[in-house]
Amino acid sequence: MTEMVQMNSPDPSLRVKPHLPDAQTVTFVRHWTERLFSFRVTRPQSLRFRSGEFVMIGLMDDAGKPLLRAYSIASPSWDEELEFYSIKVPDGPLTSRLQHIQVGDEIILRPKPVGTLVLDALLPGNRLWFLATGTGIAPFASLMRDPETYEKFDQVIMMHTCREVAELEYGRQLVESLKDDPLIGELVGDKLLYYPTTTREPFHHMGRVTDNLSSGKVFADLGLPPMDAEHDRAMICGSLAFNIDVKAILEGFGLREGANSEPMEFVVEKAFVGDGI
Ligand SMILES: Cc1cc2nc3c(=O)[nH]c(=O)nc-3n(C[C@H](O)[C@H](O)[C@H](O)COP(=O)(O)OP(=O)(O)OC[C@H]3O[C@@H](n4cnc5c(N)ncnc54)[C@H](O)[C@@H]3O)c2cc1C
Ligand SMILES: NC(=O)c1ccc[n+]([C@@H]2O[C@H](COP(=O)([O-])OP(=O)(O)OC[C@H]3O[C@@H](n4cnc5c(N)ncnc54)[C@H](OP(=O)(O)O)[C@@H]3O)[C@@H](O)[C@H]2O)c1
Repeated sequence: MTEMVQMNSPDPSLRVKPHLPDAQTVTFVRHWTERLFSFRVTRPQSLRFRSGEFVMIGLMDDAGKPLLRAYSIASPSWDEELEFYSIKVPDGPLTSRLQHIQVGDEIILRPKPVGTLVLDALLPGNRLWFLATGTGIAPFASLMRDPETYEKFDQVIMMHTCREVAELEYGRQLVESLKDDPLIGELVGDKLLYYPTTTREPFHHMGRVTDNLSSGKVFADLGLPPMDAEHDRAMICGSLAFNIDVKAILEGFGLREGANSEPMEFVVEKAFVGDGI
């Protein structure tokens, strides 16, 4: 139940915040662009999840009801805290408010992780491709930091595409930090290949993920053979249109879509629901 005590007391020290159900405390916030931010919260002691899964998080609305949305956990399963990477939708019911959270604030976090972007949903293979646009990199921010990813695969390729260079920065810094990470740096070694591109601002590599796969440019640039069902596994996370287009390309390479219950060569998850679809 929500308790509201002295919310509008003139003395700030007497203002007691409403106690949220499934509350977790914000420990870190960073704004990357006008449309993107990341934050960390305390982790419920009982929460166990597989890297790549998502949970429902949110805030109370004006009527005192939980306003929840699906969010990929961007931190790996071993981390003591939970990290999220978020869009700011100007008129979005949740993110128009969530973007203002500060350290010490509380958010609601329902501790029931689910999702298809998990290593268990893939058959064993040699190369693992993470294919994302925008905030679709969030589940891969988790998986890129999980030792199991590098134990299971010889090479891991992170393809991330955004409209503008600044939108790549969260992923760029994360990848950069992995090399010197005391926990998994050695395991990552030179196994992780990072292939960021933009589509609407000049950058050293440009073009949609779909175009770079279809033309073979990414394989030529990275010195890899084209994808095949024997060696390559993939995870896709972007808009519905992106997911549909990438899925068709992977199927063209002979890969089949899997699920938790039936592991195959690739898995897909929406990074958001919307755009009238
Ligand atoms: C499985 C799953 C995992 C998700 N994980 C994340 C995540 O890690 N980070 C995150 O920011 N969002 C994520 N989302 C989207 C998230 O659930 C919300 O839609 C988002 O936080 C906006 O909430 P809102 O209430 O402000 O606006 P909403 O009413 O939910 O959305 C309004 C419109 O904004 C656009 N939109 C929503 N989310 C995004 C986005 N992430 N990128 C680009 N456009 C968007 C869509 O056009 C949508 O119709 C995920 C969604 C799903 C289904
Ligand atoms: N990013 C911004 O600066 C910005 C600003 C204001 C509003 N918005 C709105 O916010 C929403 C989400 O924007 P977003 O930039 O996060 O996501 P987005 O429109 O899905 O674009 C993200 C990246 O994915 C690419 N892409 C889109 N559809 C694809 C497909 N079918 N196959 C392959 N690649 C595809 C885009 O390339 P292309 O560039 O070639 O489309 C872009 O590089 C949109 O409704 C948008 O109108 C975005």
